[in-house]
Amino acid sequence: MFTKSIIVFLCWLQVMKKAHVARQRLLRLGIFNEVEVLIDTSEGADALPNGLDVTFEVTEIKRLTGSYNTMVGNNEGSMVLGLKLPNMFGRAEKLTFQFSYGTKETSYGLSFFKPQPGHFERNLTLNMYKVTGQFPWSSLKETDRGLSAELNFPLGMTNHTLKWEGVWRELGCLARSASFAVREESGHSLKSALSHTVSIDSRNSAIFPSRGALLRINQELAGYTGGDASFLKEDFELQLNRRLFWDSVLSASLWGGMLYPIGGQPSCIADRFYLGGPTSVRGFGMYSIGPQSEGDYLGGEAYWAGGLHLYTPLPFRPGKGGFGDLFRTHFFLNAGNLCNLNYGEGPRAHLQKLAECIRWSYGAGIVLRLGNIARLELNYCVPMGVQSGDRICDGVQFGAGIRFL
Ligand SMILES: *[C@@H]1O[C@H](CO)[C@@H](O)[C@H](O)[C@H]1NC(C)=O
Ligand SMILES: *[C@@H]1O[C@H](CO)[C@@H](O)[C@H](O)[C@H]1NC(C)=O
Repeated sequence: MFTKSIIVFLCWLQVMKKAHVARQRLLRLGIFNEVEVLIDTSEGADALPNGLDVTFEVTEIKRLTGSYNTMVGNNEGSMVLGLKLPNMFGRAEKLTFQFSYGTKETSYGLSFFKPQPGHFERNLTLNMYKVTGQFPWSSLKETDRGLSAELNFPLGMTNHTLKWEGVWRELGCLARSASFAVREESGHSLKSALSHTVSIDSRNSAIFPSRGALLRINQELAGYTGGDASFLKEDFELQLNRRLFWDSVLSASLWGGMLYPIGGQPSCIADRFYLGGPTSVRGFGMYSIGPQSEGDYLGGEAYWAGGLHLYTPLPFRPGKGGFGDLFRTHFFLNAGNLCNLNYGEGPRAHLQKLAECIRWSYGAGIVLRLGNIARLELNYCVPMGVQSGDRICDGVQFGAGIRFL
């Protein structure tokens, strides 16, 4: 009798565990407000001895939902109005329409999302959008109208994204005083690009990780599928985190990238890399390192940046376990370089060029975590290795963003 009760009890535990997993999966679909699980002994004519009935009681989200949000991106804020069909054809397909009005850009987008049933990480997204961006550091304004298709899937330890994007780009000057180099780039162009991203992320948090590593490698090939732009672009991002004494964390990051124009065509200002600012090499103005013309930054075809950061809890730990945990003090050492390479020369000349005129900075400040997606930083920065033409921010610098060196 006793062993039998134990067996029944263990069965119950098994069933509860599996029901819990099923509940999590149902919630992940994003189509239910609530999922409740009821487990009871079977009753009725066809009930098995020791049989259990598992009932999932769900409340569905409305067929059409509307939202109003404010968002924070890399140094900008915007209001977002959205409409969503969360379960368009009954298999968690989502159709989303967004209109956003922001401090720097106004845009809209229509997107269709389809997961593989039961595997949300394998999913397909189709997008149609119009985005207008203003880039004051280059006196440039860009309006993109585009179509894209994106496939996400995990493969072993890694996550992959395959994407095709076709964009009609319209570049213009933001100010009357824009330099000739920027004026020259104005006009319409068509870009069609295939890209692939692979990432491994073992960090325990994207904003304040205390352990784990991130490696992301991205490559983009433009031109082979049509369009005016032809290039191959490679870039990577590496971050390592290690917990030290007293809940402090040492974090090291390295970014780098290269753009090879194909077919003798010069690269476009909108495709090149930019460096500097509170989200990359601190102590410099936003994207204000490297090649420039009359004060407009033109970007570069190669770059690298590295950072060493020490994060510690606030001194004396006020608000421990609550509000105080949203803050960290932050000591940093950043370095990097952005330039154009002469592709006729060998890799040695390239490395030499990237090792010349290194900009670096150090400083300290406070970091605030905003939810699980963004953070704010207030730092006192000391820029070093400044080259003529670079814009610096010597002293207090404020930054907001979702991706940080
Ligand atoms: C699509 O899959 C990727 C991983 O492959 C995942 O990160 C992403 O959250 C999924 N999209 C949605 C909307 O769940
Ligand atoms: C892949 O993406 C999923 C969903 O975003 C995430 O849970 C998982 O940790 C990622 N795996 C790796 C190895 O980065």
